[in-house]
Amino acid sequence: MAAARDHFSSRLGVLAATLGSAVGLGNIWKFPALVGQNGGASFLALYVLATLCVGLPVMIAELSIGRAGRRNVVEVFRVLAPRSAWWLVGLGAVVSCVVILGYYADVAGWVFAYVVRSASGSVATTDPAVAQASFDALVSSPLESLGWQWLVLLLAGTVIMRGASGGIEKVTRVLMPLLFLLLVGICVRSLLLPGAVEGLRFLFMPQWDRITGDVVLLAMGLAFFKMSVGMGCMLIYGSYFRDDVHIPLMATRVMICDLLVSLLAGIAIFPAVFSFGFEVSQGPALLFMTIPAVFAAIPGGSIFATLFFVLSAIAATGAILSLLEVTVSCLAERFCLSRKRAVPLVLLGLAVVGLPATLSFSSLKGVEVLGYSFFALYDVMSSAFLMPVCAIATSLFVGYAWGREKALAAMGNGASALAVWWLCRTLTPVLIAVVLLHGLGML
Ligand code: PHE
Repeated sequence: MAAARDHFSSRLGVLAATLGSAVGLGNIWKFPALVGQNGGASFLALYVLATLCVGLPVMIAELSIGRAGRRNVVEVFRVLAPRSAWWLVGLGAVVSCVVILGYYADVAGWVFAYVVRSASGSVATTDPAVAQASFDALVSSPLESLGWQWLVLLLAGTVIMRGASGGIEKVTRVLMPLLFLLLVGICVRSLLLPGAVEGLRFLFMPQWDRITGDVVLLAMGLAFFKMSVGMGCMLIYGSYFRDDVHIPLMATRVMICDLLVSLLAGIAIFPAVFSFGFEVSQGPALLFMTIPAVFAAIPGGSIFATLFFVLSAIAATGAILSLLEVTVSCLAERFCLSRKRAVPLVLLGLAVVGLPATLSFSSLKGVEVLGYSFFALYDVMSSAFLMPVCAIATSLFVGYAWGREKALAAMGNGASALAVWWLCRTLTPVLIAVVLLHGLGML
């Protein structure tokens, strides 16, 4: 089975696919606002440091485990550490993917809906209250929101059906350059607005006094969410890397390009937000209320709003492809199913799991589990618990269980491999554990 395994065919394809997973809605609705609100350039410096200590080492660890075992996320641990319980880490990753897809596909559905809505001009309003009402109408309609969510899953499933090189690589090789192009175009428009410099000041002005313990934790949490680690996504993509790809170098490239996308997103958004005097927001409020309102204020804005939602849809799709690949490859390889069989089964499962999250804004409004709506519960379960736990376990596997020689060889030997190995033994798991305890309210 291993010999016939699919692989990404070129270095550019590897970069596009891996970057496609790292770049997601986090780059658009989370990162830029967090940078601006928590100290601009000082937060950026902190984020880069956090990525070097937390996100990047785990990303390199996951990619190397995947390539060394060349199996799905569960089987890979059975091959590399037979007769042990490490395969549970892979199982945890699959569960995380299903849970995160349960709500991420929902949000992606809203983004796709907004592509159509902004193209038709139906969300063009400069009044944030009207924008809010329009967004509420979408999420509170079970049929509409479920329809968009299923459409997104179906589209992603069609790509995954074609496999790693014929599906994921082919699609991300087109989508990633397109995303950059759209971002640069919107940045230029935004920077040409009067008062744009205020937005740049908000984003980049260093404010060292804003750096508190909480902000440090925020930067660390963001670092590993951004790098898509702790979900098996990097592990499964690593299993499609050819032997001649230098993993630490490739992961560093992905980190730099991902940072660039986040910064460009900030430059596309905040000069326009400040130019028209809108409130700074993040999350759904930024994407679905502020953005349509801001672009409606610009001449020809509906074109830019549409392009902005297209690029957001691209970002969300790349992340969904990686999450879906983790689950599909696992099911297909474990039960010897073809992708044609495995994909519909996974999509069906995801439609069921995603149902309560989507309906938390309509039919199940007010229903709470542990004090959270299903939508929020899925988010907290995956980001605050499953992701950090799997990331800690992955670094401990590389640092202690795998064996020094094997781990170093898998990471390409040399100084970078040694540094990652040491980090996985020491700083990285400790820092992620601090983020985990903080997320669970224990710190
Ligand atoms: N990195 C993605 C983002 O920034 C989110 C993600 C996390 C995607 C984990 C896949 C796996 O939005």
